[in-house]
Amino acid sequence: MTPTLAFDVYGTLIDTHGVIGKLTEMLGDADQATTFSQTWRDKQLEYSFRRGLMQNYTTFAVVTRDALNYTDSFCKTKLNDTQKNALLAVYRTLPAFGDVENGLTALKNAGCRMFAFSNGSRDAVETLLDSAGISHFFEGVVSVDDIKSFKPNPGTYAHFLRESEAKANEAWLISSNPFDVIGSISAGMRAAWVQRSPEAIFDPWGIEPTAIVSTLTELQEKIVG
Ligand code: LAC
Repeated sequence: MTPTLAFDVYGTLIDTHGVIGKLTEMLGDADQATTFSQTWRDKQLEYSFRRGLMQNYTTFAVVTRDALNYTDSFCKTKLNDTQKNALLAVYRTLPAFGDVENGLTALKNAGCRMFAFSNGSRDAVETLLDSAGISHFFEGVVSVDDIKSFKPNPGTYAHFLRESEAKANEAWLISSNPFDVIGSISAGMRAAWVQRSPEAIFDPWGIEPTAIVSTLTELQEKIVG
């Protein structure tokens, strides 16, 4: 059985805190830049959950822009439109984490089918993967934009299985985001949680990841053996 892998993109392959450099330049304070980046990411996810529940879909790019405007007010940073556009431009070409190239190479060599599976629209994800130089690893991009909802709506995981033509018991979600891991397991898939930092906490809901790794380079051993 060839495992089919659905890689979450933002926070798993691509480092959303890659904006901290630009933010530090703008704000002149590395601590404030870190707080800004964390608040922006947290709000972005909260807005995606709320829009999913409200069935009031807009693209992840709009969710990201709305969360940026909230964060600017919350942090009292008074960024102008040029600065906000510059941050959103960085967001479209964020870097991959350092372990991604080696981890994906090992999985590809082991015969895994690999897809990027994201809240981001197909165009946005393709641009990110291209600029990070990792698009060649993937058989395709599956975007929740096709069904106008966001993770962890169970319909998004069903959409992945339909698009990849994989069976739930041979499909793994790979994600650093606990809500995504829990959502995919709840929808019948397997899932590996990438615990990138020892401080990262997995939600104590009694739904455990199939595997836990600290970097993508440990995945091949856990999934293929
Ligand atoms: C994604 C978000 C959840 O890429 O990080 O789907």
